[in-house]
Amino acid sequence: MEIKLWINDKLITDNVEPDMPMLEFLRDKGCYSVKRGCETSNCGLCTVWLEGKPILSCTMPLMRANGKHITTLEGLQNEAMEFGAFLADEGADQCGFCNPGFIMNVLAMERELESPTEEDIKEYLTGNLCRCTGYMGQLRAVKKYIEHKRGVKFDG
Ligand code: FES
Ligand code: FES
Repeated sequence: MEIKLWINDKLITDNVEPDMPMLEFLRDKGCYSVKRGCETSNCGLCTVWLEGKPILSCTMPLMRANGKHITTLEGLQNEAMEFGAFLADEGADQCGFCNPGFIMNVLAMERELESPTEEDIKEYLTGNLCRCTGYMGQLRAVKKYIEHKRGVKFDG
């Protein structure tokens, strides 16, 4: 089937199998930030944005993106680097395999919520599994990033 969509604002037309998962297509197009993890919607490694909202690309049929915009971490390099510095400062950057999906969710939350609370942060990150950390460094990094962006102070 013919498909036409935008990946990181670049228009792409192609012929694809009707049941092709979005993850396959994105990696075929060189978006290697999109990681293949569980492939069952459980780990968050494959998170990208569809029309600006985070979705799990491993179980999303590519055809659902026909005529729409997909954003991957490759399209958010400056913001990812800015947040990455907070991860490094908090010692939350270990093997890094979970980082792309995690960062996609943090950046989406930062855009969507005016004043995210700690509970909001935890809710956004619930589906992001990390085998290396205990999540506390990541949580500290997100809070400090939000404080930096919003000029707010979290309690505790
Ligand atoms: S690879 Fe998609 S949620 Fe795990
Ligand atoms: S840092 Fe290794 S899986 Fe999260």
